[in-house]
Amino acid sequence: MASTQRRIGILTAGGDSPGLNAAIRGFGKTAIGHHGMELIGFRDGITGLVHNRHTPLDGAALSGILTIGGTILGTSRDKVHKFDLDGEVRDMVPTVVENYAEEGLDGLILLGGGGTAKNALRLHKAGLNVLTLPKTIDNDIAMTDTSFGFATAMEIATEAIDRVHSTAHSHHRIILTEIMGHRAGWLALGAGIAGGADVILIPEIPYSVEKVAETIRTRTARGSSFSVIAVAEGARDIDDSADYEAAKLLAKAAKTPEAVRAAKSHLANVEDAQREHTFRLARQLEAATGLESRVTILGYVQRGGTPCAADRLLATRLGAAAADLVARGQFGCMVAARGDGTEAVPLEEVAGKVKLVPADHDWIAAARKVGTGLGD
Ligand code: F6P
Repeated sequence: MASTQRRIGILTAGGDSPGLNAAIRGFGKTAIGHHGMELIGFRDGITGLVHNRHTPLDGAALSGILTIGGTILGTSRDKVHKFDLDGEVRDMVPTVVENYAEEGLDGLILLGGGGTAKNALRLHKAGLNVLTLPKTIDNDIAMTDTSFGFATAMEIATEAIDRVHSTAHSHHRIILTEIMGHRAGWLALGAGIAGGADVILIPEIPYSVEKVAETIRTRTARGSSFSVIAVAEGARDIDDSADYEAAKLLAKAAKTPEAVRAAKSHLANVEDAQREHTFRLARQLEAATGLESRVTILGYVQRGGTPCAADRLLATRLGAAAADLVARGQFGCMVAARGDGTEAVPLEEVAGKVKLVPADHDWIAAARKVGTGLGD
């Protein structure tokens, strides 16, 4: 057992996710108990780092947190290089570098998703020893098989789909269940398959309202006068999808700061206008099929509460692996889940990337084989 006496900081950033506390515990118990390190936890993500607000994390603080949802440290969606400091947007990387030195830190562990990987890469380039662990219910982080939080959210969304089945059946209705996932369809697709949704709509496959209506009419003709649809929050019909892709291209092509600002605001407007798409689809399907339609937005229920066993296990082993990397002095990486093991992936290969559902993915093939409509 190495006795390095290193002092390490840890924080949780971005949207919370079941398994964050399990990961803090997995890292902390290994770092303290196995490698003899000292651990402090920064409050509320990047905010705590900027304002140097932290708390000691010893054995007692790590005890009893494995099963607790959310994060004992608090979180925020702040960006280190565009930080809102008293109403002024500032680059706080130099401040964080100072705080890190003042605290005598030897490393910093950031638990988060794609945005956190970007923050971490900036800090790494500024000379800090950083590692990230992949957390998100969206399962959209590049270069890792999965992320903790996803399995729990999928369980919750699956149970919701199970439950709306009986009421849809009793009332001969269409029930559209809107599922989180940001711009990726993993959660809706996984829960939709597991819950036996009749139609699954994801951002990666722009849908035709007529095709969805056709699937429902075919079911009615066969004697099933109800349907359950799993709709990803980021799913779009063909026209909306074309508008969105065009706005994204504009934003990418913009060169001057003014053009970038204008293109970003246009993209935000397009996204805003499309936010209520599940309600619009419900109205369209009601008109096209004659069946009453209802919408259930699962929302934050998917993110809250205790992590499932798979997420506790994943978070614990990723946390433990991160502590071993710190002990070996390996930084600038995300600790990825790879099969039954873990792998240190350079942050450059993760930051700014999003893992979408590939068109030829096995889940899509399986959904089609069992007769699930995908709206295309
Ligand atoms: O990234 C996790 C997630 O829950 C997404 O699925 C969702 O789009 C987003 O966060 C919601 O963000 P916020 O917590 O800022 O409302």
